[in-house]
Amino acid sequence: MVAKNHQQWKANPPLQGDEWVNSRIYSDQAIFDEELEKIFKHTWIPVCHESELPKPYDFRTMSIAREPIVICRGPDNEVRAFLNVCPHRGMIIERRPSGSFLEGQPSGNPKRMTCMFHAWQYDMKGNCVYISREKEGYQDRLCKEDIGLRRLRCEVKFGGFVWVNLDDNPAVSLEDWGSKAFDCLRKSIDAEPLEVFHYHKAIVNTNYKLWHDTNCEFYHDFMHYHNRVTGFNDAYFARKNEAFENGHITVGTFEVNYDQYEGFESRADLSFPHLPPNQWYMIDLFPGMNFNLRGSALRCDIVTPLGPDKVMIEYRGLGLKRDTPEERQTRINHHNSIWGPFGRNLHEDLIGVQGQGTAMQTGSEPRRLLLGRHENQTIHDENGMRHYYEEWGRWMNRLPSNPDLPFTEHQYATATAAE
Ligand code: FES
Ligand SMILES: [Fe+2]
Repeated sequence: MVAKNHQQWKANPPLQGDEWVNSRIYSDQAIFDEELEKIFKHTWIPVCHESELPKPYDFRTMSIAREPIVICRGPDNEVRAFLNVCPHRGMIIERRPSGSFLEGQPSGNPKRMTCMFHAWQYDMKGNCVYISREKEGYQDRLCKEDIGLRRLRCEVKFGGFVWVNLDDNPAVSLEDWGSKAFDCLRKSIDAEPLEVFHYHKAIVNTNYKLWHDTNCEFYHDFMHYHNRVTGFNDAYFARKNEAFENGHITVGTFEVNYDQYEGFESRADLSFPHLPPNQWYMIDLFPGMNFNLRGSALRCDIVTPLGPDKVMIEYRGLGLKRDTPEERQTRINHHNSIWGPFGRNLHEDLIGVQGQGTAMQTGSEPRRLLLGRHENQTIHDENGMRHYYEEWGRWMNRLPSNPDLPFTEHQYATATAAE
């Protein structure tokens, strides 16, 4: 077919209903707001790694679905999460990205979370322990025992990541939610404590789902010269995409020939426990987290959607806590040469999704994006994305190919209903 006129360009493709999506799901403000309400406020999100809070009173802050949260380690060594909002007049309590409550601050008592606005104080369990001029202002009508932070569901699991759910009664436990997808990596990441050695973040002008797509489809390895040189062989094309409950997928392992790329060396000498040399596993969790173990380094991406066409992505690299300085340096080199901000692959992925974001800004004419490749669920099949959007449709009760229609499994799989 030759180039299309406007009417032809807007026509639906000759594919099944689950083999394409309408780009409004990446650009529509109302759909975005609904995603925060229906998905992000009810699902498990990894907010950081326990090694980033190594000592009692260490803390980190971040946000989920526009709600600020603070994660801190108590004197009892427990990691807890709270809404980072003061119950007095709604001020954000801690504004630093990370630090320690152990030492005092000009507006903060030692070992306390202190709201600098009117100096109310909270301990590491979220109890209010001090209200300034309490008796004078409230007499006996309100006391610190009536006040407390909002505690959030928080667990340390799957390689020592700290998971938070804003829903007090999540539909599934964290273990049930993630365990099947994590099966392929669990022995490697739970054998002994891990440690974050790399952190950077990027604010990218694209939809968070497009970043997740890029992590779970490997067809775009045509963009990655490094991957083509080190990986395009029979074992690569036999890698399986496996779908799991709750919208997760994994990409199976194969041996990467790093030494095929000029300047790179084999990574066989340094790996993770129970992981054969130079292997590569990938876990993509709904709605947008990625765990990627390439031999010597584990990478984790966590997305924080900021708008329909804006996402913050936090990248972490992890090794073993007991690494020798030499081992750690090797892991850092391996991680950064592929995935650091100046690595071989990461910037190419960012160019890809920013290009999509540029073409699908809020207000742009809806387009159709194809997810219709079928190759026996191997590496260039797009079954991972189809599985993801089926889960998205269920949570949102919207059909990905026509988000004005309610989701049903039958409609999702048939073309005509999506007209
Ligand atoms: S708003 Fe926090 S003490 Fe007043
Ligand atoms: Fe990529």
